[in-house]
Amino acid sequence: MSPTNAAIRLPDPLAESENAIIIRVIDHEGVEHRLPALAGWRVMEVIRDWGLDIKAECGGACACATCHVHVVDGQGPALPELSDEEADQLDTAFFVQDNSRLACQLLVTPDMDGLAVQLAPGTQRTD
Ligand code: FES
Repeated sequence: MSPTNAAIRLPDPLAESENAIIIRVIDHEGVEHRLPALAGWRVMEVIRDWGLDIKAECGGACACATCHVHVVDGQGPALPELSDEEADQLDTAFFVQDNSRLACQLLVTPDMDGLAVQLAPGTQRTD
């Protein structure tokens, strides 16, 4: 099933919350989605929980690299430094670029409002 904007249902309290932080996600078909998030969520959880197609096999344990994204806007001080553990996992991924990150290692903060990431090739679920 390919995700579409119509497939994403926004719970009213979060969608209308002034506290929601918007994370922009470009899916595997090149469609941009504006996903509300709350501080403390992982970007991977935001992507997965809004129904976009991301494998994220290890559930956020930094053990699979199947939540690989390319940061296309917002790479800067708002993002945490790349840890050795994350860098090691990225070494196992394909299509790695200078702007590659693991979405499960990015905890949402208010400074990330407007962050844009693109799902890396090969991170689609196969089930
Ligand atoms: S979900 Fe496995 S490394 Fe991010």
